This record gives sequence, C-alpha cells and structure tokens, in this order.
Amino acid sequence: MPDPNRLIIFDTTLRDGEQSPGASMTKDEKVRIARQLERLRVDVIEAGFAAASPGDFEAIRAIAAAVRESTICSLSRANDRDIARAAEALQPAARKRIHTFIATSPLHMQMKLRMEPEQVLEQAKLAIRYARNHTDDIEFSPEDGSRSEEDFLCRVLETVIAEGATTINFPDTVGYAVPEEFGMRIRRLRERVPNSDKAVWSVHCHNDLGLAVANSLAGVAIGGARQIECTINGLGERAGNTALEEVVMALRTRADYYKLAVGIDTTQIVPASKMVSQITGFAVQPNKAVVGANAFAHASGIHQDGILKARETYEIMRAEDVGWTANKIVLGKLSGRNAFKTRLQELGIELESELEVNAAFARFKELADRKAEIFDEDIMALVSSEEQDHESEHYRFVSLAQRSETGEMPHARVVFCIEGKEFVCEGTGDGPVDAVVNAIESQVSSGAELLLFSINAISGGAQSQGEVTVRLSRSGRIVNGVGADPDIIVASAKAYISGLNKLYSKVERVNPQL
Ligand code: KIV
Ligand code: ZN
Repeated sequence: MPDPNRLIIFDTTLRDGEQSPGASMTKDEKVRIARQLERLRVDVIEAGFAAASPGDFEAIRAIAAAVRESTICSLSRANDRDIARAAEALQPAARKRIHTFIATSPLHMQMKLRMEPEQVLEQAKLAIRYARNHTDDIEFSPEDGSRSEEDFLCRVLETVIAEGATTINFPDTVGYAVPEEFGMRIRRLRERVPNSDKAVWSVHCHNDLGLAVANSLAGVAIGGARQIECTINGLGERAGNTALEEVVMALRTRADYYKLAVGIDTTQIVPASKMVSQITGFAVQPNKAVVGANAFAHASGIHQDGILKARETYEIMRAEDVGWTANKIVLGKLSGRNAFKTRLQELGIELESELEVNAAFARFKELADRKAEIFDEDIMALVSSEEQDHESEHYRFVSLAQRSETGEMPHARVVFCIEGKEFVCEGTGDGPVDAVVNAIESQVSSGAELLLFSINAISGGAQSQGEVTVRLSRSGRIVNGVGADPDIIVASAKAYISGLNKLYSKVERVNPQL
C-alpha cells in the first residue's frame, strides 16, 4: 500500500475538464497539456475516455507514448467493450490505470440506466474482473456516490475491492455534498466496508455549490481519502471540478494542519493554468485564487505598506512559488531560429518536425515585425494558433481592412480561404467586430449563434497582443474559438474563423456520463 502520509494528485483536465461545453481540444493540444502536467509532477493523468471517439482514443495513445513519469489513465464505462478500448489506447504507457464507473444512486439506476441494483452490482463486479486482464491498477467510481444509499454502496465497494479494484473513487457527481457530511460519509464507508484497507480512497468533487475544494479537503481530513481528483483552473462539467491549484496550495500552505505530502512542483502551476486557458479559451477570472491576475496584487495603501515592511503581513504564499514571474522580454526582431527553438524547448513546447518549427518561426518573425517585445505568452499563443490551423483548417484567415469613425457605421473587408480558395467579403455592423462577423457570414452562412465574445491582453500593457475567445453554438453543439493578434479586430476575425473550423470538423463524441 502507498505511504499513508502522501496524497496522490489525479488530474482529469483532459477528461472531465474536456466535458465542459466548448472545451474540446485537439490531439496535439492534449499532448502539450499532458507534458505540462508531467512537469507539474501530477501522479496520475486521466487522458480521456477512449471509447468516446477515435480522436479521444488517438489522443490517449499519443499521451501514453509521450509521458513517462505520470501514470496514464483512461475512463471507461463498466462494460467489456469500453474497457478493452481503454486498455488498447493505454498500451504504450509506462504505467497505466483503467478507471471504470457505474451509477449507484436510485435516481441514476432507475432513470438513466434502467437497471435494478442487483444488476448494477453484478456489472460492476464483472467490469473489474475483466479490467484485471489488462492491468493491476484499477480505479472504480460509484457515479453519483453522494446521493447513493449507504448500505448498497457498501456492498458494491466491498465486491469491487474483492475483485481487485485498487482505488475507490467517491464522486460527488452533481456537486450536492457539503464538507462535513461528505467527509463523514467517506469515513463511515471506510469503516463499514470490511476490505476497505486494500484500496486507496479518492474524492472527485464538482463545484455546483462552490464547495468542490472544501469537500475534497474534508474527504481527506475527515474521511481519510488519499487521492484527490482535480483539474487545472477547476475546468469541468457545469461549474467545474476541484481546482488543482487551490487544493495543492491549501495542502502545502497549511501543511501544519493536513500533515500530508504532495509531489507537485508548484512553480509549474501558473504555466499550466495559462496553457489550459489559452488552449481551451476558458479565461481565468482575475480574482481566482492562486492563478488569477489579481491573486498577488495589493491595491490598498495599507496592504502595500505592510507588504513592504514584512511580506507575511498580507501574503500567505509567495507568487514565485506558484510560478508567477514578471513578464520578461524573451525574444525580439533580431532573435534567430536557434534562440526561438531553445525558448520553445524551455517552455516545454515540442513541435513534431523541423517543418513545424520553421512555420512557427515564420509566424514569430511576422509578429516580431509588428511588436517590439515578445513574451513567453506571445510564443504560447503563436504555437496554439499554429496547432489549430494544422489540425482543422477548412477556413483560413488571410487579411482584413476595417474602418470605424465616430458617427459612421463600421465597415470590414475580410479576405479568407475556404479549402484553399480565396474569398473577399464585406460587411457593416453596429461595431467593428459585428462588421467582421457579418462580412465572414455573408460568405459562409454558418447558422452559428455567437454565445460569448471576450478579449484579454495576453501579457498586459497597451502593446500586448489581444486574445479573443468566441463561443459558437449550432444545433446543440458548442465550440470555443481563440485568436491572438496585436490588432484586436484581426484577433476577433481569427477567433471567429477558428470557431467555425471547430464547428466544421464533425467530431462525434460519446459523453461517458449520458
Ligand atoms: O463526476 C463523476 O461522477 C465522474 C465520474 C466518471 C468519476 O466524472
Ligand atoms: Zn466528474
């Protein structure tokens, strides 16, 4: 059994995180995030749900081949087909885990599965028996655990442990739990299940009531769980999951209370947060704990005075310990290909071929001609857009001319390619962004609804590139498009086109929990 004073960090950004509407990622993007999670030293990376789609399968396989230090896990429903698919995708992994689940609450069993409790129990048992043919590292989750009946849970959990489940993950699937009750529930289950000491107990909390982090910590402190499932920036279904950065920093800052070790390299937290936000288009709110732009900013005079006298007066963590660094000018117009390539390596960005490095370098030169100072964030945005184009380039932005004047209706002329053929289109609108969208739509008639438009400065300051995120919806499918450029209207056009590309690529995915 693992050390009882060590807490396992299980990251599910690439699986539960990706279940957030619009957060779907390409294979290359997932591999980049997985490499960053490895640098962060998470113990287990849930890389996806192999049976969801061929794309998910391929991404898990690529991550299993690329990552050597962390255990790689695939989710699977409790059936042989899903489990076999997970095992196949995990085949190249140095260390692999199969995570299988089935719902155990009366509501889910009756309404969703239409199964009797005895059938659910039998299916859980057979799933673990089958998974044992593929690996010894097996996790089981009774879905909707916090609304399941305790006597039934005890029977299911005892059975799956007897069959060989090595981790019991207790999910608060709908974010219904409150901390003391949740912690006590896990404690009682561990006391009542006779073979509970043969498995590591884990918690998996959703944030519908804003309690995911508190519930996870109660599961550890009161319940004795020794694994926390979490995501970067708290990404996840609906209101999201437990935020990795928050639980890890709570455990570390209050080590006097929790007395548990975690293996995380906390200086990699902010780079991981920025990468996930840039790739998914889910911006981090400024007042978000640990990774928000204001998390270490002190505006009031009294606080600033205190900090100058003794930092501990108002700071419980040090910004540099979680990876905040002052924006550094890393490269400029005169930087050569080698310097650029070295910086990519330092940022952990591994482009697959020299051709890709050349393409990224050409984009870098283009940017450096227009922007004197290039920061790490600029390089990351540049690589993200390179990868997006590479994966799904049905539409490609070429150029834009735009005119706005007080009292006049804004006008835009956009040049872009559809499958390599160039089109020029014009439009007017209430504002310059509206004019750009109307110009593009006059050609593509996508039928998409614009649900969200947001703009952020990538590196701060008026010279910063603007990073625009758009969320588009069509026939119930939601996607996010991201675009960056020193000209925010161009960034808007790029983001809109990136969203259209995602809508165009018809990836059919099964949601494991439906
Ligand atoms: O929230 C949930 O119940 C899940 C399970 C698959 C663990 O994500
Ligand atoms: Zn979940």
